[in-house]
Amino acid sequence: MALFKKALTMIAKNLEVAYPDGTIALSGVNIEIPEGKFYGLLGMNGSGKTTLLKALAGLFPKYRGSIQVESREIRDYPARELYQRLGMVFHDPNLQLLSSTVFEEVALGPNNLGLNPEEVKERAWRSLADVDMEALAEKGIQRISYGQKKRICVAGMLTMGQRILLLDEPTEGLDPKGEKKIMGLLMKLNKEKGITILMATHHVELAAQYCDSVCLLHKGKVETEGRPEDVFSNAPLMESLGLRVPFTFNIHGAASPQLS
Ligand SMILES: Nc1ncnc2c1ncn2[C@@H]1O[C@H](COP(=O)(O)OP(=O)(O)O)[C@@H](O)[C@H]1O
Ligand SMILES: [Mg+2]
Repeated sequence: MALFKKALTMIAKNLEVAYPDGTIALSGVNIEIPEGKFYGLLGMNGSGKTTLLKALAGLFPKYRGSIQVESREIRDYPARELYQRLGMVFHDPNLQLLSSTVFEEVALGPNNLGLNPEEVKERAWRSLADVDMEALAEKGIQRISYGQKKRICVAGMLTMGQRILLLDEPTEGLDPKGEKKIMGLLMKLNKEKGITILMATHHVELAAQYCDSVCLLHKGKVETEGRPEDVFSNAPLMESLGLRVPFTFNIHGAASPQLS
């Protein structure tokens, strides 16, 4: 038994989020994410993964229930303070990148904080080193690959010393090499720097390989939560939620895994 219980970085209690057209995308969601976890949010399309990430990132100020980041309700945070604690990497990097060069992009956050130019440079180089992209600093942002764009989005999120990263489908659109690269990077940030990672994905094999804990969402509610090996070996549940049982855990005679 662990002597110290890790602090809870993010908590949602009885969370309800509705879109302006009245769609209730999340209802009665309870989730607790301990500091330093690599946490996976899984569920089929439309289950509420993106909405939950955005809600945790403070993008739905009219939520009902409670969302706490480091023990403080997010609606009570001044925006700048919240974004010094967490960063969200959206699904499509093309919608997130704003600058003309790689270096300018990673310098953007520290510049906006009004730091002196030396400090801005130092932070920008440090975050480029973190994602192993120093060599591309002067390159035009539209001239780097899709996978590199995703890594630059992560770098941009590290420049303010954020300790929590929220990522929406970080491997979507990547080839196996790009996928390995970004997952290796997230793993390194998690294990070496202790950054808490919350990743939405519908890629169960990936979650089985990298996550410490997973949560299954279905129709805007949490179905179950736990260690990947426990959650994913419940084949009937996985199948009822439209998720494939990862090959590694398909040991109890569940339907044969389909290769995709
Ligand atoms: N902008 C929007 N307006 C109305 N409904 C939306 C909007 N975006 C998502 N939804 C709905 O919210 C629910 C959850 O969607 P989402 O969080 O995008 O799921 P996921 O990321 O798991 O695919 C779905 O029913 C979806 O149709
Ligand atoms: Mg989504």
